[in-house]
Amino acid sequence: MIRLHSVSKSYPGGQTALDEVTFEIPRGQFVILTGASGAGKTTLLRLLYREELPTSGQVLVAGRNVSALPARKVPYLRRNIGVVFQSFRLIERKTVFENIAYLPRILGYDTTRQRRLAIEALRRVGLAHRLQAFPSQLSGGEQQRVAIARALINDPELLLADEPTGNLDGDLAQQIALLLLDCQRRGTTVVMATHDRELIRRIGQRVLTLDRGRLASDERLPPGDLLAAVTEEPE
Ligand SMILES: Nc1ncnc2c1ncn2[C@@H]1O[C@H](COP(=O)(O)OP(=O)(O)O)[C@@H](O)[C@H]1O
Ligand SMILES: [Mg+2]
Repeated sequence: MIRLHSVSKSYPGGQTALDEVTFEIPRGQFVILTGASGAGKTTLLRLLYREELPTSGQVLVAGRNVSALPARKVPYLRRNIGVVFQSFRLIERKTVFENIAYLPRILGYDTTRQRRLAIEALRRVGLAHRLQAFPSQLSGGEQQRVAIARALINDPELLLADEPTGNLDGDLAQQIALLLLDCQRRGTTVVMATHDRELIRRIGQRVLTLDRGRLASDERLPPGDLLAAVTEEPE
């Protein structure tokens, strides 16, 4: 699903954000990306949806050589990738529906189909009843759930989450982690950046650690209790 081969990224000005990073992520895995602030987590995620280009090396996502993709093909790549950010990034003057129906709208789907997809995505995060609310009328946890619905609306093969629980505390962070694990259960590959050790332990599975741009370790953890909670849930 994802393959990085000897990927380095330096920003103008000389900062080395990633240094010869190589790894593979098979389809359907849930991978946690961790490391101190400045270690290169965000840069790595941005390379995957081609928000940045590597300075050297190859980035392959879903069979596409992302680093060599012509600009006009970038939208096709992005349709297959959902992205969730720490700061939610919802548009304040738009309703929940308008926020999450962005992609179906630019794909030219009619309103009925946009609405059906929006409700379906919101149902997955337990917020189908807030279709007409504005972000300011929602709590932080709810806003992040809307952002997850927006990322899921096109049923992407890959979901990227950059410190999605960074602005939320304990219970809410756990709720978000459960939603991401549910995506994995449905077959989506998930890459989540976080430095929340407790959350990492409770998710388990696979953890990639970056240290000043280098891949310092690639560990398999025992499945955590949150993973068990998702797999035991009835369909
Ligand atoms: N747009 C940018 N321009 C210049 N330097 C950047 C930029 N983005 C990140 N960096 C630098 O790259 C390094 C890695 O940053 P980042 O990928 O944001 O790490 P993390 O997400 O792990 O905190 C840091 O030293 C940071 O200052
Ligand atoms: Mg970051």
